[in-house]
Amino acid sequence: MQEMKPIKEGKVREIYDNGDSLIMVATDRISCFDEILNNQVTKKGTVLTQMSKFWFDMTKDIVPNHMISVDVKDMPEFFQRPEFDGNSMLCRKLNMLPIECIVRGYITGSGWASYQKTGLVCGIRLPEGLKESDRLPEPIYTPSTKAEQGEHDENISYEQSIAHLEKFFPGKGEEYAQKLRDYTLALYKKCAEYALSRGIIIADTKFEFGLDENGVIVLGDEMLTPDSSRFWPAEGYEPGHGQPSFDKQIARDWLKANPDSNWTLPQEIVDKTIAKYLEGYEMLTGEKLA
Ligand SMILES: Nc1ncnc2c1ncn2[C@@H]1O[C@H](COP(=O)(O)OP(=O)(O)O)[C@@H](O)[C@H]1O
Ligand SMILES: [Mg+2]
Repeated sequence: MQEMKPIKEGKVREIYDNGDSLIMVATDRISCFDEILNNQVTKKGTVLTQMSKFWFDMTKDIVPNHMISVDVKDMPEFFQRPEFDGNSMLCRKLNMLPIECIVRGYITGSGWASYQKTGLVCGIRLPEGLKESDRLPEPIYTPSTKAEQGEHDENISYEQSIAHLEKFFPGKGEEYAQKLRDYTLALYKKCAEYALSRGIIIADTKFEFGLDENGVIVLGDEMLTPDSSRFWPAEGYEPGHGQPSFDKQIARDWLKANPDSNWTLPQEIVDKTIAKYLEGYEMLTGEKLA
């Protein structure tokens, strides 16, 4: 059996090169306040991978996606062991487009801060009188540049996204920018509406797209997981203040109350967090995690 080493180890994901495909492994690591905690949240990786699979299946009529399989039998022998079972996705390798496609259906976080100062979010004027966490009249597309490692992503306007893409793909900037925006809004609308019917608000999220070998735009990366999105419980939703995170609130609250914890949660808090991930998966899909 051939040993394989990840070509990239992100905060919570590991990526393996497999020729013209990739294997994306979601680990059980969890980050809070931008720190990786010392605990493993058992099954979190599987929940996230299976959630992406669920959304990829649901939206393949809107835009093609990079998913090939989540069955380790379709992957090299190295992956045929328990630690990769369920949390690994075999994906088509894409030439990624250098834009983070962000869509916001609710006003929160940096968007709320900016709106309070200027009435704008990423250059888009919003109606007056919005409260924190309010639902927007229409979801807004607020792209950012995808920064090189170590640098910060920068919010850009839709017009700037055309120019940015044009730099990398001369003659294609406008076409790609339009498609990214239209796909992003269509994906968000369909999935956020569905999630709401199942009791989860998807306040905002980020998609990444790439080009396949024929130059076709394909949806990549992870899709609508709580790591790439803000998930709020619909129950108890109330504008006028911040909303609890569906998955991380228990851990965040405990960390805030225990500043000397050295980023290590007690098992009771880990167990409650595990239960939240499983609950979120079951609410969205209507099924227990296999
Ligand atoms: N199908 C794909 N082909 C090639 N690269 C991809 C594909 N899907 C996602 N990626 C890239 O893989 C990387 C995943 O890294 P990630 O763990 O999210 O860390 P980060 O976002 O900090 O770079 C990102 O650079 C993403 O753009
Ligand atoms: Mg990423």
